[in-house]
Amino acid sequence: MTGTTPKGLEIRPRRPEFGLPQPMPRHWHGGDAFKSHFFDAMSVLFPDGERFFIDSVRHFRERIDDPLLKEQIRGFIGQEGHHSREHIDYNNQLRALGYDIDHLERALRRRLAFVRKFLSPQLQLAATTAVEHLTAIMADALLRNPRWLEGADPTMARLWRWHALEETEHKAVAFDVYQQVCGSPWLRRRAMLQSTIFFTKDTFLGLVHMLRRDGLLWNWRVWRDGLRWLWGRDGILRPLVKAYLEFYRRDFHPWQHDNLHLVEQYRREFDATAGTAGA
Ligand SMILES: [Fe+2]
Ligand SMILES: [Fe+2]
Repeated sequence: MTGTTPKGLEIRPRRPEFGLPQPMPRHWHGGDAFKSHFFDAMSVLFPDGERFFIDSVRHFRERIDDPLLKEQIRGFIGQEGHHSREHIDYNNQLRALGYDIDHLERALRRRLAFVRKFLSPQLQLAATTAVEHLTAIMADALLRNPRWLEGADPTMARLWRWHALEETEHKAVAFDVYQQVCGSPWLRRRAMLQSTIFFTKDTFLGLVHMLRRDGLLWNWRVWRDGLRWLWGRDGILRPLVKAYLEFYRRDFHPWQHDNLHLVEQYRREFDATAGTAGA
């Protein structure tokens, strides 16, 4: 199976004005605590996570000669930088609602500091390609399947669509850099196993913390409906297992799954109405 990044794919940061609702509705996802906090818990991870992604790619930037890839790296850094900033605002809204975001961030920061200090730059980049795959397959599903955001506050839904669009656009940038500077499928498999464990654990802990603050942690209906929404027969995460496993193939490339039509479809929403920002 072959796959390459589409020639001429433009990766450009946009900075639409979201004006997040203030105060943010605690259960902005259709009044559903589980769904809202599933997204909120991921939002908590983004500012520090995306800074790490940027640094891991930037480390190898000078070793890339291909002008197209260099241009895409610039776009990738710009997009992730804007995501970080937008999610800092988002997370401040969560703080204002009384959630202990500092506590959640501290654990992630400690781990990232360890990774930066003790793991090789190649493994750090491999970890970035792994988490970029996790975000890319979720982004693809979110853009494809209305169930992901059905009933959500329109501004919050728009923010998540914008993030998903840009994750799709730049899904292969870290991977293409990795292929040029390292390429080992073993290292990237190892990175994926570790990243999956930590990403799942951190998201789960964030969700648990917020449900506990809401007094809903031991509400079995919340868990039953939430887990059904994620993993039930029509669960939103269920179809992702196959796409997830493809990363472990020796000849994997993110654009083997061609979803350029989604990029084109959602670009119309953001590029037609929003002010755009340069790199
Ligand atoms: Fe991002
Ligand atoms: Fe990304």
